[in-house]
Amino acid sequence: MAAAVLLAALLAVAVVAWVLFPPSEPRRPPCIGSRVPCLGAAFRLARAPLEFIERARAEHGPIFTVFALGKRFTFVTEDEGAEVFFTSKDLNFEQAVQRVVANAVSVPAEAFYQNHGRLYSMMKGKMGPSNLHMFTGTLCKELHEHMAHLGTEGTGDLMELVRHIMYPAVVNTLFGKGACPTSHSELREFEEHFWKYDEDFEYASQMPECFLRNWSKSKKWLLKLFEKVVSDAERTNPSETTSKTLLQHLLDNLQGKHLAPNYGLLMLWASQANAVPIAFWTLVFILSSPSVYKKVMEDLTSVFGNTGKDEIEVSEEDLKNLPYIKWCTLEAIRLRSPGAITKKVIKPIRIQSFTIPAGDMLMLSPYWLHRNPKYFPDPEMFKPDRWKEANLEKNAFLDGFVAFGGGNHQCPGRWFAIMEIQLLVALFLYKYEFVLLDAVPKESPLHLVGTQQPLTPFRVQYKGWE
Ligand code: HEM
Repeated sequence: MAAAVLLAALLAVAVVAWVLFPPSEPRRPPCIGSRVPCLGAAFRLARAPLEFIERARAEHGPIFTVFALGKRFTFVTEDEGAEVFFTSKDLNFEQAVQRVVANAVSVPAEAFYQNHGRLYSMMKGKMGPSNLHMFTGTLCKELHEHMAHLGTEGTGDLMELVRHIMYPAVVNTLFGKGACPTSHSELREFEEHFWKYDEDFEYASQMPECFLRNWSKSKKWLLKLFEKVVSDAERTNPSETTSKTLLQHLLDNLQGKHLAPNYGLLMLWASQANAVPIAFWTLVFILSSPSVYKKVMEDLTSVFGNTGKDEIEVSEEDLKNLPYIKWCTLEAIRLRSPGAITKKVIKPIRIQSFTIPAGDMLMLSPYWLHRNPKYFPDPEMFKPDRWKEANLEKNAFLDGFVAFGGGNHQCPGRWFAIMEIQLLVALFLYKYEFVLLDAVPKESPLHLVGTQQPLTPFRVQYKGWE
């Protein structure tokens, strides 16, 4: 009897407490939107995303939500958010990028989920550090071949020079020689379509194709071309694993062969979108700092002897003996890393005092994290020597460096990317002496997912070393 009375009393207290102090709503991050719900903050975000994020951070703190295009994007810009972003099981990478892949290359959701894990593992394996040697020799030869078109001297926009050399060299290396148009005469039309496709990729990944007429035209042209590329790769697919190209490995692992042109195009885009602009920026940072340029040249001559010799053959071992160029590459990647990467919240998660609801897109900005002075003192400065501290022999980056993502979904092409940029820089600077004709370009604030393109051209004069 006494127990029943006690229980009733406790229940009554609980009811009164619940009425007087109802449980508070979980606290959500501050939300930025506009009064036009379908556009939300999209317009401001799309016009200058990095600036937008910086302002929002100053005004609302390190975690905030942007309501744009009917979706909630929650940005985390500091350590604690990054830790959750890379480790939480309540976040999903595939659900975040599925729509992007559907819009960009027309792969339906079901096929995407069916193929993603398998294709990711294939790429991670084939492009991992222990397999890089399979690409280095071919890539070196290809880079020489395409650099030869520059002649012994000339002037040009550095971004154009890098594109014209890197694109065909990398495509011939990963897809097989001649698989895509890479000869001098065929290149123009292909490049026009490909760079148009790349330029508007981010907008196209978020909105219906009908709003982007020219982008859509280029996409169709490229998909048509890839029908032939894929059928040639299938016809010539060897049984010996070590003789296959990356594209042929992709074909072997793909379920739903009719989607091979779509995946081929996606792979081509992923291999170029970040690597080409970062190779450009690596050269800009080196050439515009006389002491860095001098040190790079000293390293090169210590490994290959005096400049002015014929073509050098660069092995993986040689690249290991050029750590300073690797540091320059990593430092350029740090300063020009992607604006944001994303995961979808599938169960509410807590970061600091906030609860982020399921359905939000969680956004992490490598660009901003790389400007944290706790990890990178003098964060805006190009300081290759800071990479001395990284254990690169063990394939470890510096703490706080997240340009390639982290956790289970890191970029599978990261080791290849570092190697190709290091190689391009080595060959380019060993072959030519450069004089800068324009002021150092500013990066464009427009790119959220991809890397910043320069706002203005950057012309250089080049001349073969005597
Ligand atoms: C400096 C150059 C590069 C940078 C900064 C970069 C960065 C990234 C980032 C941030 C991601 C997303 C990771 C995430 O969301 O957690 C990614 C994904 C990816 N990258 Fe790279 N990347 C580069 C070069 C390359 C290259 C050269 C290739 C291929 C040859 C490549 C292939 C891919 C692929 C296939 C994915 C998608 C992975 C997935 O679906 O799970 N990337 N990259």
